[in-house]
Amino acid sequence: MNTNLIPIAKKLVADDKGLLAIDESNPTCNQRFAKLNIPQTVEARRAYRELILTTPGLGECISGVILYDETIRQQKKDGTTFLKVLGDAGIIPGIKVDTGAKDLAAHPGEKITEGLDGLRDRLKEYFQMGARFAKWRAVIAIGKGIPSQSCIEANAHALARYAALCQEAGLVPVVEPEVLMDGEHSLERCRVVTEEVLRMVFNQLNSQRVLLEGMILKPNMVLPGLTCLPQQEVKEVGVGEQQYQVRLTDRQPDEEQDIDEVANLTVKSLWRTVPAAVPGIAFLSGGQSAELASARLNTMNLRFKSQLPWALSFSFARAIQQPALEIWRGEAANVKAAQQALLHRARCNRAARRGEYTVAMERT
Ligand code: 13P
Repeated sequence: MNTNLIPIAKKLVADDKGLLAIDESNPTCNQRFAKLNIPQTVEARRAYRELILTTPGLGECISGVILYDETIRQQKKDGTTFLKVLGDAGIIPGIKVDTGAKDLAAHPGEKITEGLDGLRDRLKEYFQMGARFAKWRAVIAIGKGIPSQSCIEANAHALARYAALCQEAGLVPVVEPEVLMDGEHSLERCRVVTEEVLRMVFNQLNSQRVLLEGMILKPNMVLPGLTCLPQQEVKEVGVGEQQYQVRLTDRQPDEEQDIDEVANLTVKSLWRTVPAAVPGIAFLSGGQSAELASARLNTMNLRFKSQLPWALSFSFARAIQQPALEIWRGEAANVKAAQQALLHRARCNRAARRGEYTVAMERT
């Protein structure tokens, strides 16, 4: 077994830093660009990723960045490779290796993540390029009669096969089973499904002989469905710059309770299902507002950090990038301001790992 994996996994969650996911596939990245009238071209994606990776001070808060296949091969405008930029910043390069979630045959409304065919060779190439960790995302939807046991099992099995191949290649697997926020389900239903999924994932990881000390878990927080009544206001947060501002000054009285409940139930679910050998848990943001993601992570660390066997960290895409993307809008003149917004979110999340994040930080 490759024991070099353990120090890398530990480093990914050390010093209260976290992961930044910029591994959106081209279609997903294009969709986000289209909403802001940014051209959906290779050059626009490259320029946006250059903006992110050259943000001064990023390495203070970010231990690893998850790249997409197109991005790991790209360079800055001056020809410096993105991999060198990351190396100079002391940030570990990671790579998304699944090829996306496709319809699961005979299971309406459910998905299976693909990408195992040829994975051994792709991992070898990424390792040679300099990547030291990888990511695979499985998606589990909650709805009428779903998720089915067979969908959970198929996705957990694929995650475990991927993780074992990563470890063979010297890459730390980030194992991402995402229970989606879409739907009308309650917080309690999300808790039940999340626990079921995590139990199955660790069964499969054990059965495929994955070294738990050499992996990172990337789960969802336990959240009520977006169209479950109490969450409806939250859905609007962070969509545009304006709404983001409004939210800062209009914190609802019941929001604190929501943050507490989410933090308590999320930690409870993880406590019941994630073995102590796993060094770190780095949450995805899943469509939460940037602020709420920080506040919820903060509460978990504030309340429970000293009692937990694993680090509670972040591996956000939207909750770090979205405010910056909305400022940039494809304009070179906005790069500096966008980088400031990106660094601000990275700092808020580092503070949340320490239990030191406050709403006042959003006003500085
Ligand atoms: P979000 O934080 O936007 O959910 O993305 C995390 C991620 O990497 C999804 O695979």
